[in-house]
Amino acid sequence: MQRPVKKRPNIVLVGFMGTGKTSIGRRISSQLRMRYVDTDEIVERNSRRRISDIFAEDGEPAFRELESEAVRQVSKLQNHVISTGGGVVLREANMTELKRNGVVFCLTATPEEIYKRVGHQAHRPLLQTPDPLAKIQSMLAERHPYYAEVSDHMISTTGRSFGEIIMHIKRMFRKSTRNPK
Ligand code: S3P
Repeated sequence: MQRPVKKRPNIVLVGFMGTGKTSIGRRISSQLRMRYVDTDEIVERNSRRRISDIFAEDGEPAFRELESEAVRQVSKLQNHVISTGGGVVLREANMTELKRNGVVFCLTATPEEIYKRVGHQAHRPLLQTPDPLAKIQSMLAERHPYYAEVSDHMISTTGRSFGEIIMHIKRMFRKSTRNPK
């Protein structure tokens, strides 16, 4: 008799800009021999434009549509580390898709730490304001309930090394995917 094919779950990384989703995601994927995808990269590949150009030319709502399309694509995968854009949690449908075959980890950091990491980067359209720290604080306050609601695990990255964070995620992932006896 043929055995049913078991789907291997994804690790889904959500969290605000600058919380380390890309750096940590890439490292975990190579350590666990899983493949890595990033919804921002898929948006750019599908539309053949940079995210900053999509925001500038068509606005944020157009970007959110493209982002949801990218989410639908990656949600069909298995055994991947999926890194997402910071605003992916704003649409419930995105998270329903991602959670179908994924354990969701939210990376967090303090507003000051995020500002230090990304506050001066010109390719981040939402931070092109006179006071990026204030913008980070207000966006974080607005988004925190969404991150908390959708995540299986929240992990602070402030003051912790990549090694510690990765070890923690691997441990939690193993626990969540262990077969119940
Ligand atoms: C966004 C975060 C960005 C990118 C876009 C919008 C957001 O991704 O998707 O600029 O709304 O927070 P990262 O979190 O990977 O920087």
